Amino acid sequence: MATIGQAIASYERTLISGNTPFDRWYYGRDRAALAREAQRGFKLFTGKARCGACHALGHDHALFTDQEPHNTGIGWQRSMHTRAAETAVPIAPGLNVAKHLVEAVSEPPPNDLGRYEVTQDPVDRWRYKTPSLRNVALTAPYMHDGSFATLADVVAYYNRGGYAAPDLDRLIKPLGLSTMEQNDLVVFLESLTGDNVGEIAADGVAAPIGDPKASTRVP
Ligand code: HEC
Repeated sequence: MATIGQAIASYERTLISGNTPFDRWYYGRDRAALAREAQRGFKLFTGKARCGACHALGHDHALFTDQEPHNTGIGWQRSMHTRAAETAVPIAPGLNVAKHLVEAVSEPPPNDLGRYEVTQDPVDRWRYKTPSLRNVALTAPYMHDGSFATLADVVAYYNRGGYAAPDLDRLIKPLGLSTMEQNDLVVFLESLTGDNVGEIAADGVAAPIGDPKASTRVP
């Protein structure tokens, strides 16, 4: 297990991406690198919408994460099963099956208690580590359980103050953003795509995936 962990960590350390329109504008001081909407979105991100309090950035670098676990309400909501019960489950393109039919023939989903599962400390229930937002436009669906399909859905969730979960982080509360402001935030998030994602993706499938003897290759 230790070797597998080290191998995965070594691979993860190669997933470095930068030189985004945002980097060229903010760190490179290229005033034309970032669309006006995205510039407004950045102002909201670090100001009124308080995203930067957790998706942190500094004077000379930006990982867009404070590396800390927070309760944004997503895990609680999942544990309480209060999400719309009838989310259809796609099993083939164009073929969705009602969720209750899938659940009738599958095992109950395991508990989803976040950081608590490691620390066993009740204050850590439903806390998840803040993810980086680099290349976030390419990594839908969102949140640890993939419960949001688009960045607009994520921003709308923060804007309405999340779910009324116990021990919700104090920063998760209604933001009062207009439709335009929400859109500006989405355009800003879309400006975080690096210039080497093609290379990273090619690396990801450079080695055979699965059992090498079966030589499975992903095109
Ligand atoms: C209290 C800390 C906190 C604040 C404030 C916050 N986030 Fe998050 N964000 C998180 C955590 C933690 C997650 C992971 C939640 C999960 O996986 O269930 C997350 C997830 C996300 C994701 C999904 C990333 C992915 O790869 O799935 C996006 C996008 C995002 N946040 C954008 C924003 C924006 C935009 C704002 C401001 C409106 C914001 N966040 C404010 C902590 C925060």
